[in-house]
Amino acid sequence: MERTAEPLDIEVNDVSATLFVTLYCHALESQSQNPILVDPMSVELVQKFNEKLSHSDNNLFRRLARGKLDKNLIVHIAIRAKKYDEYVSYFLNHSPAGVVVNIGCGMDTRFWRIDNGRTSFYDLDLPEVISIKKKLMAENERYHFIGCDVLDHDWMAILGRHGRGPYLFVAEGVFMYLHDQDVKSLVLKLQSQYPGSELVCEVFNEVWLGKPFLKKIIDFKMQKELHLGSGATFNFGIRSSEEMETWNSGIQFLDDWSYFDADEEKLGWLRLFRRFQLFRKTQWTVHYRLNQACPLCFCATRPG
Ligand SMILES: C[S@@+](CC[C@H](N)C(=O)[O-])C[C@H]1O[C@@H](n2cnc3c(N)ncnc32)[C@H](O)[C@@H]1O
Repeated sequence: MERTAEPLDIEVNDVSATLFVTLYCHALESQSQNPILVDPMSVELVQKFNEKLSHSDNNLFRRLARGKLDKNLIVHIAIRAKKYDEYVSYFLNHSPAGVVVNIGCGMDTRFWRIDNGRTSFYDLDLPEVISIKKKLMAENERYHFIGCDVLDHDWMAILGRHGRGPYLFVAEGVFMYLHDQDVKSLVLKLQSQYPGSELVCEVFNEVWLGKPFLKKIIDFKMQKELHLGSGATFNFGIRSSEEMETWNSGIQFLDDWSYFDADEEKLGWLRLFRRFQLFRKTQWTVHYRLNQACPLCFCATRPG
């Protein structure tokens, strides 16, 4: 992480501000005893942001700079990051030169945690987020930034110029902030442009979002307990892991995962929740294959 010098202007919307929550969780967990996640770059990044955030008008940022974060949240976010690292490493074990796109990457430093020396890795986030990231770390011949709204499908043209596939798209802590139709259009576009690709994304349970009273509880928790801005609300949800299969033929559900499935001692008694589908499937991760690639030459894995 050689970059420094330029001043950090942190002008981001309420949804993007949540990237600092996950960054600080990574850093705090990395510095704890028996860390679930070892992410030394997050510690360096936090040191760079701390001064700026501690003088911010934003209450969330000032709290983060003082290290005020719920212990369970730190554990959950660290478990999630570790699991997504495992998804990516598993994919690269089978396709060492595969292309990974980290959708809504925030300040996450996954490339540096999982790099196998052959992958091409793309960190994609909104332009204002990528412009902060560019000031802090450098791209290289296999690590690239895409500063673009993921819903503006033009970013696929940028990816098409560089990558050959096979592709893995990961979206950790992102889709729930988007809207149903937007997520569906994005997934269908990925399916048509990258047949044979895989998608790993975190989802929220639509049952909670569909009931105004329950939705109010979630908004209350996010604003009053997590101190997120009022623009950071959950909108997109599904009811079952298989639901995206119904969006189009060729979308194949592979597996799912919940925080409570993790065998981490730091989860404590919360591990009991894995037995109750209601809790296991409140906020969880789903893994799909989007169509089959051309079995002969993988030619269809490259967008036209
Ligand atoms: C909770 S943060 C997660 C960051 C990162 N994935 C992690 O786990 O550390 C949500 C991220 O999604 C990004 N995001 C939200 N909407 C987006 C969009 N339409 N296009 C690209 N990125 C988006 C935000 O800017 C933010 O970085």
